[in-house]
Amino acid sequence: MDALQAIKERRSVRKYLDREIPKKILEDLVDCGRLAATARNAQPWEFVVVTDKQKLKQISDITSHGKFIANSAACIAVFGKKDATYFLEDGSAATQNILVASKAHNLGSCWVAGYGKDYAEDIKKILSVPEEYTLVSLISLGYPAEYPSKSKRSLEEVLHWEQF
Ligand SMILES: Cc1cc2nc3c(=O)[nH]c(=O)nc-3n(C[C@H](O)[C@H](O)[C@H](O)COP(=O)(O)O)c2cc1C
Repeated sequence: MDALQAIKERRSVRKYLDREIPKKILEDLVDCGRLAATARNAQPWEFVVVTDKQKLKQISDITSHGKFIANSAACIAVFGKKDATYFLEDGSAATQNILVASKAHNLGSCWVAGYGKDYAEDIKKILSVPEEYTLVSLISLGYPAEYPSKSKRSLEEVLHWEQF
């Protein structure tokens, strides 16, 4: 699958088959995350890959809208170093790269909110993350058991040439 197809066909998937994701693929997803655009090339990110079922359940239990993480094959938690000016933008760019790469690997994924959430500190504790990092996002992953389609605003509606 080429990049354009992966970008255009990616949709959030919240139901997964009971099937493991090979370690090589999980590594490749993080590799795609770490190559995202990043202000001043700071690369202020760290990625924690969770596949342990008990930990997945623990994470899902404390999120407000991420209960499906319990039934995912893996979850990648993206952290940004607090002292980097653009850690949130950088971490978000890395997150989107991982979502698109997941699609290219025929995986389903869903971005689960992390930044600013009341459970962010508890996620850090579960994953033994040092103080100087902030949770940007959680990405649930698995082979898809659904192919949702979301309505999208049309190109004509959002595209403006030369002026708004
Ligand atoms: C910053 C951000 C936070 C999100 N948080 C959640 C979440 O907590 N739970 C969830 O199920 N989906 C979450 N999503 C996924 C969105 O609901 C989804 O992207 C949106 O409905 C559009 O659907 P699509 O991804 O299929 O195009 C989040 C997406 C973004 C960008």
